[in-house]
Amino acid sequence: MADGIRAVLLGAPGSGKGTQADRLASVLGVPAISTGELLRRAVTAGTPLGRKVGEVMAAGRLVDDALMAEVVRERLTSRDARGGFLLDGYPRTPPQAETLDEILADRDQKLDAVVYLDVPEEILVRRALARRRADDREEVVRERLRVYRESTEPLVGHFEGRGLLRRVDGDRPMDEVTRGILAALGRNGQWC
Ligand code: AP5
Repeated sequence: MADGIRAVLLGAPGSGKGTQADRLASVLGVPAISTGELLRRAVTAGTPLGRKVGEVMAAGRLVDDALMAEVVRERLTSRDARGGFLLDGYPRTPPQAETLDEILADRDQKLDAVVYLDVPEEILVRRALARRRADDREEVVRERLRVYRESTEPLVGHFEGRGLLRRVDGDRPMDEVTRGILAALGRNGQWC
């Protein structure tokens, strides 16, 4: 595996992708890129992108694949992502997985690993409701989980089939999860 890792954090809403991506970014020296965060910033700033996606996000549905492709291509081709990245929240559908491969292939790059954070559903709901983000109302959380099962969960098998999937138990204290991910990536000892 190359030094500057190119990895995806995959998991249900509330599984800890954002929390772990932020911690691992500093340890691994690559940027954490959260598509949810990129979209939320666009909504807050009232950009054309933000105006297109605000309603969809508030309902817990997915932004369409073509629009996400533009957002992700622009972010992954920026200077700080050249040496690697931790992608949180993308890909979320089989077409998005194809787009990611295309973006990387255009630059003679490929994914090193996909970390799947495994957390039971009742814990996911509890975590989201405790956080109180704008889309963390119970009915929206349940819709995000439904959309996850329908559109994103099939990617677990897809990446497993490609030999890229690393399963990590995400229902543990945060430090243990961080250590588990680093071990799964072959980077043990980089977190105390
Ligand atoms: P996004 O921001 O990606 O939301 P999500 O996938 O629903 O994920 P969350 O942020 O809820 O959870 P997380 O897994 O990051 O967990 P976190 O670390 O925050 O996307 C939002 C929306 O944007 C989508 O619904 C969609 O509309 C749109 N979107 C984004 N990407 C898209 C794409 N590719 N295509 C189409 N649309 C897209 O942790 C959750 C809570 O749990 C926190 O309070 C945290 O402190 C706590 N916690 C974390 N780990 C632990 C632990 N080990 N123990 C106890 N508590 C923990």
